[in-house]
Amino acid sequence: MEQPRRFSDLPEYAFPRLRKLLAPYSPGAAPVAMSIGEPQHAVPPMVSEIIARHGADFSRYPPNEGTEDLREAISAWVARRYGVRGPDPETTILPLNGTREGLFNAALALSPEQKDGQRPVVLLPNPFYQCYAVAALAVGAEPVYVPATSETGFLPDFAAVDPGLLARTTIVYMCSPSNPQGAVADLAYWRGLLELAEKYDFRVFADECYAEIYRDTPPPGVLEAVAAASADPERVVAFHSLSKRSNVPGLRSGFAIAGPRAMVELKQLRNYAGAPLPLPLQHAAAALWRDEAHVVENRSLYARKFQDADDILGNMPGYTSPRAGFFLWLAVGDGEAAALRLWREAGVKVLPGAYLSRAAGPGAENPGQGYIRAALVADREEVRRGLQAIKGVLG
Ligand SMILES: Cc1ncc(COP(=O)(O)O)c(C=O)c1O
Repeated sequence: MEQPRRFSDLPEYAFPRLRKLLAPYSPGAAPVAMSIGEPQHAVPPMVSEIIARHGADFSRYPPNEGTEDLREAISAWVARRYGVRGPDPETTILPLNGTREGLFNAALALSPEQKDGQRPVVLLPNPFYQCYAVAALAVGAEPVYVPATSETGFLPDFAAVDPGLLARTTIVYMCSPSNPQGAVADLAYWRGLLELAEKYDFRVFADECYAEIYRDTPPPGVLEAVAAASADPERVVAFHSLSKRSNVPGLRSGFAIAGPRAMVELKQLRNYAGAPLPLPLQHAAAALWRDEAHVVENRSLYARKFQDADDILGNMPGYTSPRAGFFLWLAVGDGEAAALRLWREAGVKVLPGAYLSRAAGPGAENPGQGYIRAALVADREEVRRGLQAIKGVLG
């Protein structure tokens, strides 16, 4: 049987690869989980109450475009969070099963087959959330990996990309706050990217799923930049999620905001091939977007753990305190060797940075090579143990 070749050259996915790396060795102490970015703080109690109350709705097919109530809750949250006029719930908001499916499907819906008769290019930050690269390949575009390293403040410098590639670009994926580095794009960065999008005629997919996990100052969002610059809303699709904000990665709930013309395409694809969110889950999601108290509490739990990280690792060369997100991105020389030592000597499981990034071409350096990513998602005691072990083994 003929096999598709579309995804054949993708490296093995990060977590099976890590399992293979560590499998031959036993942990040096009771394991500490810092490899996966799965929020572990408590699920807000309202979630199960609301789902139970609306259990009878599991008997109905949910609307593809989400309930009006959920879209209104999202619009009000965007207005509160970013100080902008609430986006129109009817024509610009699409509830999603988490941002991952939206980040993938939006490329299918919005990347043209060709640009000026040429193969499209999709730009992505490097390191990056792996879904972006698969989306680019799925639409037949050429993924181009743009370094987001210490030299560029851990943000990709898209304006420095070769103009020939920019001319073929249809989509730019941008993540802020970023996974894995926790870097934050300020309004000037977003404005510059919107200008570049206008100049070279592409769309920006803004992955802002870590927007609510920050230390002191709320990261500005792309929708704020669009409003401030009176930019064309069709240039941008913004993605948000409850997974991190509300500790419900298993609820699978997020949303996209796009200009009305782009939204027609997103809804068209969803009508034919999308999986709408079960109604009881949409009720819970609406309540979560309306509530801030649990988000403030959640943020403060992370802030304490990042304070611990500053206290324990502050003097370690290669340590920087991220402005947002829940990862440490630590410069350690050789990321794979460091991950292996941490596991064998202390039972600490972290991800080698190279598993989240790519060598941009033959002979090019993989920008994640010298790093490990450690997730501060477990409870404070376990995270403290992990931090102390990192200090002991690598410090
Ligand atoms: C950068 C980034 N984008 C998107 C996602 C997807 O999250 P979800 O689909 O749960 O919203 C994740 C999850 O870890 C992520 O780290």
